[in-house]
Amino acid sequence: MALITKKPKGTEDVLPKESYKRQFVENIFCEEAKSFGYKEIRTPVFENTALFERGVGDTTDVVQKEMYTFTTKGGDSITLRPEGTAGAARAMLEHGIYNDGLPIKAYYLVSCYRYEKPQAGRLREFHQFGMECYGTACAAADAEMISAAASIFERLQIRDLELQINSIGCKKCRAEYYKALTAYFEQYKDELCDTCKDRLNRNPMRILDCKSPVCSEISKNAPVMLDYLCDECKEHFEKVKSYLDAVKIEYIVNPKIVRGLDYYTKTVFEFVSSDIGAQSTVCGGGRYDGLIEELGGQNMPSLGFALGIERLLLLMEAQNIEIPTPQNCEIFIGAMGDEAYKKAFSLATQIRKASVYAEFDVVGRGLRAQMKYADKIKAAYSLVIGENEIKENKALIKNMSDGTQYEISLDDENFMHEFMEIKIKHEFMEIKIKEETKAITKEG
Ligand code: HAM
Repeated sequence: MALITKKPKGTEDVLPKESYKRQFVENIFCEEAKSFGYKEIRTPVFENTALFERGVGDTTDVVQKEMYTFTTKGGDSITLRPEGTAGAARAMLEHGIYNDGLPIKAYYLVSCYRYEKPQAGRLREFHQFGMECYGTACAAADAEMISAAASIFERLQIRDLELQINSIGCKKCRAEYYKALTAYFEQYKDELCDTCKDRLNRNPMRILDCKSPVCSEISKNAPVMLDYLCDECKEHFEKVKSYLDAVKIEYIVNPKIVRGLDYYTKTVFEFVSSDIGAQSTVCGGGRYDGLIEELGGQNMPSLGFALGIERLLLLMEAQNIEIPTPQNCEIFIGAMGDEAYKKAFSLATQIRKASVYAEFDVVGRGLRAQMKYADKIKAAYSLVIGENEIKENKALIKNMSDGTQYEISLDDENFMHEFMEIKIKHEFMEIKIKEETKAITKEG
């Protein structure tokens, strides 16, 4: 029975009292993405399993160990998306990526699913904000993509994030590297975990991001791709770095970054923080020049990144970054008696038409309890309507923080206008009092 009231392991509820934090960061993501020319893409939460096997790679940890895969009643193998890139690429391809002018820029906010061992910053259901750019092989695009992520972190006032970049080359130069890597791991063949023994022949680079302690210890001294780059990849990487230098984005080159997904080519990058424990990568991305082709399209060099929203919020909390709390109730309209209730309802309706937050009692409480509630929701103004007020068609509206009262008409047409006037008058009075107090303190 207890299972009914317990969320599944590795998931999080976002409750009404804290959802404003997500909305705040999500708004910033979208604003920033739009300022770089990106438009939103929405794709299904589940895709055919083959998409991830192909796209993400069937020797990755994500595909081999972490996917939520099931067979439908119709016998199809379906997987909950473990990330956003493959689905977005599939959708672009399906709907004719070649029909629009290049580059095509898409951003998304998605839930993702990975069957991992939950810990702080590592969930089984988590959320990503991502940006993907299709149809450019130019190094300026890599630098622009990194700068988009950097500008999001800057807007959010996040400090001390380290940008780590690397190049993992292209198909061409990787052949040499794989030979060196295979020769290195061959020496430790017996010690590798079973999955990595298999990877040794199929995709030795995946051993580098195996989470097993033995494999990661062995990986420490493995050769790095940076030493095997072909001229084209080397030149591309140099250009990316020079563009980052030009816009003063600081980075370190970390030759150990390989990323956990198979589609990457050339530039890869991560934003890492030392403030949130072991799951320190807040954002990761890179170029994936072969993915669209791998999925059946034509040559379409592309790139992107995704940042983990839960990790980002953990980081903002660790750095005590304040997130503006939502606007409190502007006006609470208390009512006594049936006529008064109807009046309160119609006034609230008028106010809300102007997108102003107004409430009246919908619980059927007595007046005292209504006012207690108005206090609790920190209403800026309150108003009580009873028999007399209905008769006279006016009432006293009270500023809840200092108790100042003003007369206000209860005409549906005039109420909103008068309320706005009262608010302005009150704010003006507050400013005057502040100035006078300042002057007196100065004189004193
Ligand atoms: P990723 O590095 O697997 O890359 O994930 C991106 C971000 O998602 C991570 O940096 C982290 O913040 C967050 N994340 C990943 N797994 C979890 C988890 N189990 N719990 C909480 N947060 C998590 C990708 O997914 C690529 N699709 C990024 C990309 C887009 N590359 C190119 N375009």
